[in-house]
Amino acid sequence: MKNQEYTATTMAGLEEVLAQELIEIGADEVQLARRSVYFSGDLKLLYKANYCLRTALRILVPIDSYKIHSADDLYQRAKNFKWEELFGVDQTFAIQSTIFSDLFNNSMFASLKLKDAIVDRFRYKLGDRPSVNSKNPDILINLHIANEVCTISLDSSGESLHKRGYRLDQNEAPMNEVLAAGLIRLSEWDRQSDLIDPMCGSGTIAIEAAMLANGIYPGKIRKNFCFKNWRSFNPELFQQMEQEAQPVGLPLVKISASDISRRNIDIASKNADEAGVGSLIDFKVSDFKLLEPSSEKPFLLFNPPYGERLTPDDTNFYGMIGERLKHHYTNATVWIISTHQCLKSIGLRPSRKISILNGSLECSFRKYELYSGSKKAVVDKAEAE
Ligand SMILES: C[S@@+](CC[C@H](N)C(=O)[O-])C[C@H]1O[C@@H](n2cnc3c(N)ncnc32)[C@H](O)[C@@H]1O
Repeated sequence: MKNQEYTATTMAGLEEVLAQELIEIGADEVQLARRSVYFSGDLKLLYKANYCLRTALRILVPIDSYKIHSADDLYQRAKNFKWEELFGVDQTFAIQSTIFSDLFNNSMFASLKLKDAIVDRFRYKLGDRPSVNSKNPDILINLHIANEVCTISLDSSGESLHKRGYRLDQNEAPMNEVLAAGLIRLSEWDRQSDLIDPMCGSGTIAIEAAMLANGIYPGKIRKNFCFKNWRSFNPELFQQMEQEAQPVGLPLVKISASDISRRNIDIASKNADEAGVGSLIDFKVSDFKLLEPSSEKPFLLFNPPYGERLTPDDTNFYGMIGERLKHHYTNATVWIISTHQCLKSIGLRPSRKISILNGSLECSFRKYELYSGSKKAVVDKAEAE
C-alpha cells in the first residue's frame, strides 16, 4: 500500500508525546511542528491514527499545496481539482480555515472562495452540486494559508478527536480529554502503580488513565470518523485494523478518583461506565482535606479548581493542598496542573515544571516528590520563585 503524508494536530505542549504515540503505532517520518506533528504511512495507518491516538485532535490529509498571489489563484486551482473523485453530490461538506496572510481580510472570505470553487467544479462536471452543512458535514475540508502558501487537506477525523463519545455529562470545568491523556503521558506514570485523582470532577483523568493502562483505544467508543464517508473508504481494511488494535493480556490497573461533590462523582462514574472502565475505577465522595492515600506509594495527578485571578480563598485552598500532601502523602509522586500563581501557594518545591495551555489559560504542570527523613528538604516551604 502506498505511503502518504499526514498531519496530526494537537495542543501546545503535547507535540512530543503525540510524536511518541505516532512512533508506537508505526508511523514513518515523524516530525515535530507547531501544535502538530507530520508523519507518513499507508491508509491503514491513517485509520489507526484516528482510532488509537490519545493526544491528537485531528488527522489531516494534505491533498494540494501551492503558492497563491491573489484570492482568485485559490479559486482557479481549486476549481481544477478532481473533487468528484473524493465525494459525491449527495454528500454535504464544510470548510474550516486558518489564515495567516495579507491576501485575505478574514478566513470566512477564503472559505467562501474555496467553497465556490468546489461547487462550480461539481456543477461543471456533474450538473449538480453538494450542499454545505457547517454543523455536521459528511466531508470536512481544511484550508490553511500561511503568507502565500495555500494547503488544502481533507480532515479525516471530522469532529475533534477529544470527543471520545463517553462524556454523557460534565461538571462546571471539565478537562479536555486530549489534555488529560497528554498530561498522563507527560507524567511518565508507569501504568502499573495506583493512580489517584482526588479532585476528579467529571472523571476525565481517571477515565483516560484507565483506558491507557488497560489498552483500550479511544476509537473503541467513538463511532464517527469523516474518512468513513470518503469514496476511498475501505471497510475491510478498517475492520482489520480494529481487530489488531484490541487489548491483549494487559494487567488490570486500579485507579482511585474522588471529589468533594456527590453530583460530580455521579457524573464521573456514569462517564466511566460509558467508556467501559467503570469497574476499574474506585469512585468516592471525599474532601481532599480528609482524604488518606489508598496505597503505600501513591501517584497523584489532578487539577484543582482555579480561575484567571488568584483570590485569598485560592491561596488558602492551595496552602491546604500543600499541607495535606506534606503530612499525609510521604513517598508520593504528585503532579498538579494549575496557574503559576495558584501553585506558588502550595509551598512545596517542584522537581519538574512543564508549561502548558489549558484552553487559553497559561498553566504549569508540576511534579512534587514527597519524601520523609533525609530528603525532607523537598517538602519544606521552599518555592524559591
Ligand atoms: C477543575 S475541576 C476538575 C475537573 C476534572 N479534571 C474533569 O475533567 O472534570 C476541580 C474539581 O475539584 C473539586 N474540589 C474542590 N474542592 C475540593 C476539595 N476540597 N476536595 C476534593 N475535591 C474538591 C471540585 O468539585 C471540582 O470537581
